[in-house]
Amino acid sequence: MLHTRRAHPLPAPPLRQRFRRNLLAWYRVNGRDLPWRNTADPYHILVSEIMLQQTQVDRVLPKYHEWLGKYPSFAVLAEAKPAEVTKTWYPLGYNIRPRRLQSIAQQAVEKYDGRLPSDHDTLMSFKGIGAYTAGAIRSFAFRERAAILDTNVARVLFRIFVGKGDPKAHAMKKRLWALSAAVLPHKHVFDFNQALMDFGATHCSARKPKCPACPMRRFCKSATA
Ligand code: ADE
Repeated sequence: MLHTRRAHPLPAPPLRQRFRRNLLAWYRVNGRDLPWRNTADPYHILVSEIMLQQTQVDRVLPKYHEWLGKYPSFAVLAEAKPAEVTKTWYPLGYNIRPRRLQSIAQQAVEKYDGRLPSDHDTLMSFKGIGAYTAGAIRSFAFRERAAILDTNVARVLFRIFVGKGDPKAHAMKKRLWALSAAVLPHKHVFDFNQALMDFGATHCSARKPKCPACPMRRFCKSATA
């Protein structure tokens, strides 16, 4: 019988386990206490994720609270005046995002009784929800075993498990999605995915990764010092 070998094997189960354990331990000590980590409301999760797509956490925090005060549900947001919605968003910049968020709210109200569905394909059918946001909603709001991949997560997985090649190439993106799914634990998916993001944002940052103090340094393919 012929066996086809994968060009890039995924990490073996013991290494996946080691990575999960180290990441969750790191998160227990270093994770940030953020308001969207204390909710499972799909609307709140969606608002936070769309805001965080292009804007740093400290600028998102006050706007997140203001937004939910003004538009507490998909139904209220769907009915709001578009010009007012855009104004509320300002100064987060990148002004297509409030329009997108309102359009998602309108689709949720029209088609899904004012709620978000939880399955990947239906989420992806919404204009304004891509693969990252679908994974974030499924893992954070519905606690499903769904992978995520944003810039921070891609950098972490690339550095630790790949090391060489072009992190931005299309084929690499596919490989990193496969890695993100492979390392995902069966339990604690919410904490694990939040931890991946925090680890990328505050520890394995783009410019100044803290390699000497890193719990992954023994098996990281890019560790320096
Ligand atoms: N960036 C994108 N999503 C995030 C989250 N849930 N927490 C912190 N930073 C994020």
